[in-house]
Amino acid sequence: MTKKTNILLFGATGYIGGSVLNRLLNHPKADTFSITVSVRSPEKAKLLEKLGVKAEIASLSDHDKIEELASRAHVIFNVANSDDLPAIIALLKGVRKAYETTGELPILIHTSGTGEIAEPAKGDFAAETVYSDLNIEQIKAIPETAFHRKIDLAVIGADEQGYARSYIILPGIVDGIASGPVFEAGIAKPVSIQIPAFIREALDRKRAGMIGLGKAVWPIIHIDDTADIYTVLFDAISANPQSVGHGWEGYYFGESGHVSYYEIGKAIGQALVDLGLAEDAEPTRFTDEELVKYWGSVLAGNYGGTTCRCRADRARAIGWKPKYGTKDLLAVIKSEVEYELKRAQEKGGIDFSYEKSLATLLQSGKAT
Ligand SMILES: NC(=O)c1ccc[n+]([C@@H]2O[C@H](COP(=O)([O-])OP(=O)(O)OC[C@H]3O[C@@H](n4cnc5c(N)ncnc54)[C@H](OP(=O)(O)O)[C@@H]3O)[C@@H](O)[C@H]2O)c1
Repeated sequence: MTKKTNILLFGATGYIGGSVLNRLLNHPKADTFSITVSVRSPEKAKLLEKLGVKAEIASLSDHDKIEELASRAHVIFNVANSDDLPAIIALLKGVRKAYETTGELPILIHTSGTGEIAEPAKGDFAAETVYSDLNIEQIKAIPETAFHRKIDLAVIGADEQGYARSYIILPGIVDGIASGPVFEAGIAKPVSIQIPAFIREALDRKRAGMIGLGKAVWPIIHIDDTADIYTVLFDAISANPQSVGHGWEGYYFGESGHVSYYEIGKAIGQALVDLGLAEDAEPTRFTDEELVKYWGSVLAGNYGGTTCRCRADRARAIGWKPKYGTKDLLAVIKSEVEYELKRAQEKGGIDFSYEKSLATLLQSGKAT
């Protein structure tokens, strides 16, 4: 019997991680994988086991458990949290142990985000610098204080020290409604984080909003194209690890176009008008009071006014072909508005907990 590939996935109950798991379950070589997911919820663990994976109950703060799980994996997908340094340190300890025990280099595919290259703009301008993930000097010059960066440096450190092959995927704004068994089973929510936050705020104020003039632009990527990057990369590594950039050459932006926050606001506004929830589709700027109300502080609220541009050159070079662009992102916003509206109706109110959790992170000084 051929040896199975032990795959460990963090974030299976999430929007991106759930999509990655769907891809792995549907992979042509799925019968050669032994997939373990690490999740917090015992109820979701049971649902995940029904899909044919082994589920371990652990929070990212259970460091001993994270280390132990990582020490048994050949391939790790970390799609749970781009900003938990102690969890990554524990995971890397396990990865080192795996290497020292087996002599085989574990594969670590970590998730970061283009927030790492975002600059403060308060919505008033669009970034001019276009980052390319093939430009190593540009990537190396990103300051250590940038959002997600300390964690990414730790991941690259493992590669530099020679006990892992590391790869970092940095998606821009991920959009679209996710589908597949993980979502159909109610294990993960099928919507993203950034645009839905703007939608919830628009539902609350009955008009779309934007930071400043809405001129800040960000890279975009559809959820299916995002999941494809993980599998295209995984397949390329499995076929020939020597041919795929890792470590400093292992930054993979996720981008298939750019969008301005004005365009996002206008699409949300039009959806509100179409649904009879607002009279004017034109977005208006958030006041400081609104930023405090939704995000806990003006500083945190202004994250939606930061700006960045990049090109996913490295993923394209290994055969990734995105199917969706900015027009598709704008076209799906109405469905996302309907989703958030239904969720608010079911919950008896709008849930701003994601905004508050991001605010906590931003206020801790880890973001631009
Ligand atoms: N969506 C985007 O547009 C986007 C873009 C760039 C980067 N990213 C980054 O990619 C990562 C995943 O994003 P997402 O959109 O998939 O988010 P999501 O839907 O909120 O999923 C987050 C996942 O991480 C798990 N998780 C979070 N904290 C945890 C902890 N302390 N212990 C154990 N599990 C934990 C969640 O588990 P529970 O179900 O138990 O909560 C869930 O499975 C995030 O770090 C995000 O910053 C996202």
